[in-house]
Order: sequence, then structure tokens, then C-alpha cells
Amino acid sequence: MPPIRHHGMEPGDRPGSAFDPELLKRLWVYIRPHQRYLWAGLGFLLMLSASRLVLPWLVKIAIDDHLAADDLAGYFPLLGGFLGVALLDAVMRRSQQIAVETGGQNALLDLRLSLFRHLQRLPTSFFDRTPTGRLVGRVTTDVEALQEMFSSGVVTIIGDFIFLGATLVILLSLHLKLALVSLLVVPLLLFVTLFVRLRVRSAYVVMRARLSEMNGFLHERISGMPVVQMFNREAATVKAYGGINAGVRDAQLKSVRWETVLSSLMELLSSFTVALILWYGGGLVAENWRTEGIEGGLTLGVLFAFIDYMQKFFQPLNDLSLKYTVMQNAMTASRRIFDLIDVDERLPEVENPVRPAQVVGEIRFEGVEFGYDPEQPVLRGVDFTVAPGEKVALVGATGAGKTTVLKLLTRLYDPLAGRILLDGVDIREYEPRDLRRRIGLVPQDVFLFEGDILENIRLGNPEVTEEAAIAAATRLHLDELVARFPGGWHEPVRERGRNLSAGEKQLLSFARVLAASPRVLVLDEATSNVDSRTEQLLQEAVHEVMQGRTSLAIAHRLSTVRDADRILVFHKGELAEQGSHEQLMEQRGLYWCLVQLQYGDEV
Ligand SMILES: Nc1ncnc2c1ncn2[C@@H]1O[C@H](COP(=O)(O)OP(=O)(O)OP(=O)(O)O)[C@@H](O)[C@H]1O
Ligand SMILES: [Mg+2]
Repeated sequence: MPPIRHHGMEPGDRPGSAFDPELLKRLWVYIRPHQRYLWAGLGFLLMLSASRLVLPWLVKIAIDDHLAADDLAGYFPLLGGFLGVALLDAVMRRSQQIAVETGGQNALLDLRLSLFRHLQRLPTSFFDRTPTGRLVGRVTTDVEALQEMFSSGVVTIIGDFIFLGATLVILLSLHLKLALVSLLVVPLLLFVTLFVRLRVRSAYVVMRARLSEMNGFLHERISGMPVVQMFNREAATVKAYGGINAGVRDAQLKSVRWETVLSSLMELLSSFTVALILWYGGGLVAENWRTEGIEGGLTLGVLFAFIDYMQKFFQPLNDLSLKYTVMQNAMTASRRIFDLIDVDERLPEVENPVRPAQVVGEIRFEGVEFGYDPEQPVLRGVDFTVAPGEKVALVGATGAGKTTVLKLLTRLYDPLAGRILLDGVDIREYEPRDLRRRIGLVPQDVFLFEGDILENIRLGNPEVTEEAAIAAATRLHLDELVARFPGGWHEPVRERGRNLSAGEKQLLSFARVLAASPRVLVLDEATSNVDSRTEQLLQEAVHEVMQGRTSLAIAHRLSTVRDADRILVFHKGELAEQGSHEQLMEQRGLYWCLVQLQYGDEV
């Protein structure tokens, strides 16, 4: 079995800074249309902070001015006020989260959409060299990391600073000395949390890499299950899976270990601060009692308020380091996302596209040179013309470049040299959309989407009505096969057409093209073995779709070759011979050899 690929960590990943103005500016483009939610969130947060500041103050008043002063008349209304503020606090907390998340989710929706739109515009060559898993990761995991930026409240971090500042002012003005003593722990706290958070983050990055490695492995082995089973690789697969699994466990545990260090330390430091306040402040209160309330002494209410404020002070402080790492992750993710958005390999826009009302259907290749890698030519000096309505078959050994000819004609790739003309006009002067509407392709591997049979024929094209789709399919006798399905035309097609046979899939693929009714047909015949009835249906289907249109068919069936007006024989990227079946057989050249090898007993 092939070695395990490593997913997750990618070249170019560096632990970036938490605030990259360049990236933030680009993110803002997506946030701006929804910024009112963020401003609302910030407003709620400020009110939330205010209520959090008021609560300990109310307790202080209750203790000092009412309990200690034996004034119970004002005590109970104050309690009511306390509950009221607490309720406001709860409502604000929820409103703030909802507002920020709504803005964030909307911005991310836009981002995901524009990312996908961008992907759809990229050329086939880009997808040839970029692993699918990585692209899926951009749209899912990386966008998720950005989402954390909203859910963790990083965007309202200004609110945190205002809250911390206000608390500081209150503490210092309540009792300067006690405030300084109780803040002793803060530098230590900041240092510890930042230190541990950075450890948690690196453990987390490893964990993400392990998880995506595991997902990649599962995905591959589950889709390749028949191979695993047929070649008795179950034990080896389990062993490999066990290895990856242990990696996931270790990474999870490591990150949990640091997380727990952090939460325990936080608790400890918080209790330590309470002890500090009780030790120093308690002494002051006792002294105050002994001296019967000298000026500037410490009251019990103030002591209580101090403890409460300090505990409320700890939470945002702790959050700051969390938000720092979330921000770091978000920046890494957005760098990856924008790197993808910056891939600019689109086909250049056509200045004045030609848009003939009617395509006659003449195809001409003029000195076409091409290589997927420019250093390694795949097609060399290919010249040929297909007259309107002519049926041409392409034959040649495997790897001769036949499929490549079709890819160039449909502009999945552009030639390195030479020209391809449709009705005498370079295909680069048509809009790609327009060109592809005029040239129908039946590919070698049929790709079906989840949906039903009809949907797979129509492919969401509004120009293809249900009736047209059924009519096209019926002309190919697909109705005979469909009649066997309980759901008929609406029989569900599963992922990649798993529940259909090879022959059914091919017929469906023919129906697609027939329904769209293009002027030019290009066909990459598949070579699957089907029963003789289906084979007959497929032969008829080929004949049917080629009828009355210019067609270029890579032929594997002798019947298709025979049906053609002319045969082009490709050999190692060059057009070696052309002519009718009879002519080429007489030449006793390459074609003759191919026929002997491929159809020896049929001729
Ligand atoms: N996406 C690609 N990237 C790089 N090289 C490719 C790519 N597709 C095909 N090739 C190479 O280009 C050459 C021609 O391939 P092509 O698919 O045109 O052959 P073919 O004649 O259609 O063969 P077959 O009869 O087996 O389908 C082959 O050597 C192949 O390895
Ligand atoms: Mg091919």
C-alpha cells in the first residue's frame, strides 16, 4: 500500500503575528457589509461591562450603608435593583454574542462563496497539481478558524480593554494601597497564561495536522474498501490506521495537559489573590473596627467589592491570551485563503468575443503544439480539418495524445503554439462559456452528481426542459433501463453514480449531450465491458449523437471507427495517418497494425 500522505501542515505555513494589518484590511472587505452587527455587538458589550461594574458596587452599598448602618428600609429595594441589573447583564451577554455571530457568519458566508466562485474560474491545470483535500480545507477548516475569531469575541476586544481599564480605576479609587497589593499577581498571571497558551497552540496545530491526516486516510481507505478487501490488506490497513490514531490521541492529550495546567493555575492564582486581599485588607478592616472608623479606613463592603471586582477582572485577562492565539490561528488561515484567492490563472477575458448566431461546425487544428509540462511535448505539429457535419474518429495507442486533443478543443487547456479554429475563428476569440455550449463533450469517465436521473441529464441547464431531457434519453432507449427503477426518471443517483451500472452511466452521459444539442460533438469512448444488449444500445447511442453534427470521436469500438467518414491515427503526439477505413487498411501501416491488435478477430 502507498505510504501515508501527510495532510494538514503545508509548505509556507509559518506562525504569523496575531495582527497583520494587510490581512485585516482584506478581511474587512467581507465584514464591512455586515459591520452594523459588530457595532451593535460592541454596544451591547459596553452595557454588559457597565452592569458587571455596577453589581459589586451595589453589594458594597448594601453592606456598608444599610447592613452595617442598620438601615434595612433601603436594603430590600437595593436587592431588587441588584436582581434587575443581573437580569440586564444576562440579556446583554446573549444579545452581544448573537449580534457578533450574526455579523461574523454572514461575512464568512460571503467569503466562502467568493472562494468557491474563484475556484470555479481556475483552469484544469490548477486542479491537476493541487490536491483536492487542500482546497476543501481552505473552504472548510480555514474558514472555521476565522469563525472562531467571531465566536471567541476577538472582534469586541476593545470592550475588554475598556472593562479592564474601568475596573482598575474603580479599584484604585476605592482603596489605593489595597488595589496595588491585590494587583501584585497580575503580571505573573499575564506571563503564565501567555506562556501556556503558546504551548497549547503548538499542541493544537499538531493535533489539527494529525486529525486531517486521519480524515484523509479514512476517506481514501473507505472509498478504496473493495481493493483493501480483495487484496487482503485489512490487517495492514488497521495497523496503519492504529498508528495515525495513536498520533491523534497523543496530540489531543498533550493539548489537554496544557489546557488543564492553565485552568488549574488560573483557579490557584485567583484564590491566591482572594487570600492576599483577605490578609492585607482583612487587617485593615480589623484596624478600622478597633479604631472605630477613622477617616480612610477600610469597610467590610469595600473588602467584599474588592474580592468581587478582582474575580471579574481575572476572566478578561485570561481571555486576552486566548484571544491572542485565536487571532494567530485566524491570521494563518486568512493568509492561506488569500493566497488561494490570489492565484490568478484565469483564462484571459476576451476583448470582443465573436458570437455567431449559428455555428456551422468546421474544426481546424493548425500546427498545434502542447505539453502539460512545457518541457515534455505531448502533441507535436498537429494539423487537420474536420468539415461541417463530418464524422471523424481518432485512434491510436494509449498515451498517444487523443484525449489531449479533445481537452484543447474544449479549452480546458490552451495550446503552447499553433491555433485551433472553429468556423475559421480562433477558439480563444469565443467566450469559453459560449464555446462550451456549442461543443458537447462525452468524457471517458462519466461523472454523475447526487440527485436523480433527470437532474443528471439536465445539469440545471434551463434550456434543457424535462420533456427535452426525457425525449433525448428515450431516443437512446434509456427509457428501457429507467423503467426498471422503482423511481423511474426520478430514481435517485447516489454520489458519483454508485448505484448505476457502467453501461447505464454511459447512456446517461450520452443523453446529457443529446439533450443540450450542441453543433459539435466530441466523444471519448469508454472501454468498459457491458452486456451485449447494452453494448448494442451504446453503439446505437454513439451513432445517434453523432448524427447530423460535426463529431470528433476517440474510438474504441470498431463500429464507431467504421461509422466515421474519416479516421485520424495518432502516434506519440503526432498525426501519423488519415483516411477512410478501407484506405488505411490498404496502406498496411499503423492503423492496420492497430486493427490487427485491437479488433483482430472482429475484422
Ligand atoms: N493532466 C495531465 N498532466 C500531465 N500529463 C498528462 C495529463 N494528462 C495526460 N498526460 C500525459 O499526456 C500524454 C497523452 O495523454 P492522453 O490522455 O492524451 O492519451 P490518450 O491518447 O487519450 O490515451 P488513452 O487511449 O489511454 O486514453 C500521456 O503521456 C499522459 O501521461
Ligand atoms: Mg484518453
